[in-house]
Amino acid sequence: SHAGTPLSGDDGPSVVAHRGASGYAPENTLAAVDKAAEMGIRWVENDVQRTRDGELVVLHDDSLRRTTDVEEVFPDRSPWKVKDFTAAEIARLDAGSWFGSEYAGARVPTLEQYVDRVEHNHQKLLLELKNPQLYPGIEQQTLKVLANEGWLDRRHVAGRLVVQSFSADSVRTVHELKPAVKTGFLGTPRVSDLPEYAEFTDQINPSYGSLSMSYVSSVHAFTGPHGRPMEVLTWTVDDADTARRVAGYDVDGIITNRPDVVRDAVGED
Ligand code: G3P
Ligand code: CA
Repeated sequence: SHAGTPLSGDDGPSVVAHRGASGYAPENTLAAVDKAAEMGIRWVENDVQRTRDGELVVLHDDSLRRTTDVEEVFPDRSPWKVKDFTAAEIARLDAGSWFGSEYAGARVPTLEQYVDRVEHNHQKLLLELKNPQLYPGIEQQTLKVLANEGWLDRRHVAGRLVVQSFSADSVRTVHELKPAVKTGFLGTPRVSDLPEYAEFTDQINPSYGSLSMSYVSSVHAFTGPHGRPMEVLTWTVDDADTARRVAGYDVDGIITNRPDVVRDAVGED
């Protein structure tokens, strides 16, 4: 899509690879970004957390346990919280073997490494601030990393970056710190609360289970902070029937672990 145009056009919702193409490669790794790129998927979603020594890394859980070999490498460090490990310690971990032996050696990327790869692949980034209440100041720090990497240049801000969170406070903070950056709120606010959300968020991004056609049209009726109708991206849709159903609600994007399945079902603008 062109800079400044809405996320979705007439050809169908944008397809967003959730944690990368995480149905096919280990979530939130560079391999999952590349897998999405190989499939021709332009948007990737990721989750950002912070290490003990203040580095931003890409991981979904607040613990390293599920998606790395941290239990083997650091057996005495239960419950293996990201915030209790240094970036150097995390860099030693294998974040791929749990998913499949062919991904042995995949690492937990730093945010810098991650956005470099997304840039290299000419992809677009839906960045989630995960558990921001655990990491005071993560909004400002994330924006600083993005700025250093060139992601707050006009061409990026216009059409290639959205920062989202389940925390409305965090989304509002991002908007106030850098009003040019598009934002998304993860959740399903009451329709009566949407005018307040429209002051600071461009997107309302609900779980598909809580979605209806009338809710999507209610969101579209409000103008977001950048002067366009607020958008709806829904998650996590991995089957063709559900993808077609939510596309029929006129959602602007579908966040999926299986971007090839969703793209084949609903097309993409
Ligand atoms: O992008 C939406 C989705 O990622 C939110 O849920 O738990 O997968 O981060 P979760
Ligand atoms: Ca997420």
